[in-house]
Parts: sequence; structure tokens; C-alpha cells
Amino acid sequence: MNKKVLIVYYTQSGQLQEIVESFAAPFVKDSGVVVETLRIYPQHDFAFPWTSDRFFDAMPESVSGKPLTLQPLSFKEQSYDLIVIAYQPWFLSPSIPTTSLLHDATFKKLLANTPVVTLIGARNMWLNAQEKIKKLLTDAGARLVGNIALVDKNGNLISAVTILHWMLTGRKDKKYGIFPIPGVAEKDIQGAHVFGSVVLQHLSQGNLETLQPDLVKTKATEVDSDLMFIEQRAGRLFSIWSGIITKTKNRKAWLVVFKYYLLVALFIVAPIVLLINNILFRPFVGKSIRRKKEYYLGVN
Ligand SMILES: Cc1cc2nc3c(=O)[nH]c(=O)nc-3n(C[C@H](O)[C@H](O)[C@H](O)COP(=O)(O)O)c2cc1C
Repeated sequence: MNKKVLIVYYTQSGQLQEIVESFAAPFVKDSGVVVETLRIYPQHDFAFPWTSDRFFDAMPESVSGKPLTLQPLSFKEQSYDLIVIAYQPWFLSPSIPTTSLLHDATFKKLLANTPVVTLIGARNMWLNAQEKIKKLLTDAGARLVGNIALVDKNGNLISAVTILHWMLTGRKDKKYGIFPIPGVAEKDIQGAHVFGSVVLQHLSQGNLETLQPDLVKTKATEVDSDLMFIEQRAGRLFSIWSGIITKTKNRKAWLVVFKYYLLVALFIVAPIVLLINNILFRPFVGKSIRRKKEYYLGVN
């Protein structure tokens, strides 16, 4: 009997759609699999490109996980053998449309007792977002069996500059003609079919339980120690900021404070703290770093 696969995603620029298409190519070619791809839209979508104000205004609700209303979802099947959730992190949390999808009652019904693969298209920080996704999947009774994370492999500060250029102008091109092209590299997007093949093989052979170690072997997911260090701390700080800004009566003013805080934290404080940590502490905590990395590479 044909295996039924559902792939759901949201995208603004179209990058995640390209990733989904590349990943799904082996499934589409396989006659033993029926693939249904669904792009979701919020009732009132986030305009792209962003203005600076709207970009930072998305932080509090991204972090607190407050869902919004999506355009009605319709699925062809009552159940699937595998659901692939392709998503992008926003402010170290799942994007608001993705969180909303995972709160949708019809989708949650489909998720119950179903294996799920997550397919991430990020700048470079997805660890916190994936922890939140894991929780939402557990709440829905789903079983996470695989994770693939495509990222921008340029340096952290360079990709921060280029992503802001892309998000605020809508142009995925070289800022000032000198910065690299923002986002996930085209060759990595085109290479995502390799991960699709690995997932397809495990699905066809009925051994999705052993999928993630094979995905890790093909470098579908990698964890960088420096980014992990920054993200763990930033995640906690974002929760505090989100709490303050969702409660305050003066949201606009606090968002301006947050914006400048974030720029200083990212471009000045984080590199200094990282340098101090790498010189003074990291040599003594190798084992704990390795353990954390293994955890984030896994799906439990
Ligand atoms: C509001 C906002 C916040 C973002 N925050 C993060 C983040 O915390 N970590 C990250 O790796 N990428 C972040 N990104 C980049 C996205 O994850 C994604 O790679 C990019 O927006 C392209 O996705 P698209 O397919 O929806 O256009 C952010 C993007 C937006 C618009």
C-alpha cells in the first residue's frame, strides 16, 4: 500500500518553499509514496519585506507562543504515515504561523500517534525553537523521529547583517555588493534532496525509529558550540523581554529599547562574553558541551 506523506510549511520569502521542494523531490519520484504539500497562511499575513518596527514587534508573541488565526486548513487524508513540518525560527522560537499550526485542532488530530520530521530553514539559531516544537508535538501525541536544519553557514555577525538587509528590503542579494548573499546557500538548498532520500529510505523500510542517527551522519543537523553557548543564554533573556513587553502599557517604547538592547547584545556583548568563556571556562567543560551537543542533535 502507498505510504502517505504530508509536508506542511509557511514561508515569507519563498526560501522554505525551495527547501521543501528540494527535500521532497525523492518522495515525488517514488511511486510507492503519495505526497501532499500544504502551504499555510495566517488570516492576516505578516507583510514581507518587514519594516524595522514590525520586525521587532513580532518578538514578544513569537517567544510567548501566542497563536494567531490561520486561513482554514484542509487535508486530503484522515491520517498520514509521516508528517513533515517545515518551519523557520523567529526570535529563537518557532515562527508565529508555525506555533499557530501546532495549536490547530484539526492538525493536532492528524499529529496524534504519527511520526514527524522537522525541516528547519534558519539563519543559524534553531535550538530553542526546536525545544518548543518538541513540547508542542508531545502535547499533540506526535512522535518526533527526525530533524533536518539548514542554516546560513557564514559567521554569526555577518549573517545577522545580511539577514536584516534581506528581511528589511526583501532583496536576497549582496549588501553593498560586498556582503555574502543572505540565507541558506543555494547549494545547500539544492542538496536537501539527500536528506529527503534518507527519510524516504527509512519510511519505506519501516524503520523511522533509527532515522535521526542516519540524518546526523549525512550532516542534516549540526550543532556549533559557540552558537549553542549564545543561544542558550539569549533564549532565557528573550523570555524575560517578552514577558515585560506583553505586560507593559507602553509597548512601542519598550520595543525600541529591546531593539537597541538586541543590537548591542549581538554585536558587542556576545562576542566578548564568548571570547572570555572560550579562554577561561571552555577548556574545563568539554564533556558537558559534548553531552549538550548530542542532546540537540537528537530528537528526544
Ligand atoms: C522576525 C524574524 C525573526 C527571526 N529570528 C531568527 C532566529 O531567531 N534564528 C534564526 O536562525 N533565524 C531567524 N530568522 C530567519 C528565519 O528563520 C528564516 O530563515 C528567514 O526568515 C527566511 O524564511 P522564509 O522562508 O519564511 O522566508 C528570523 C526571521 C524573521 C523574519
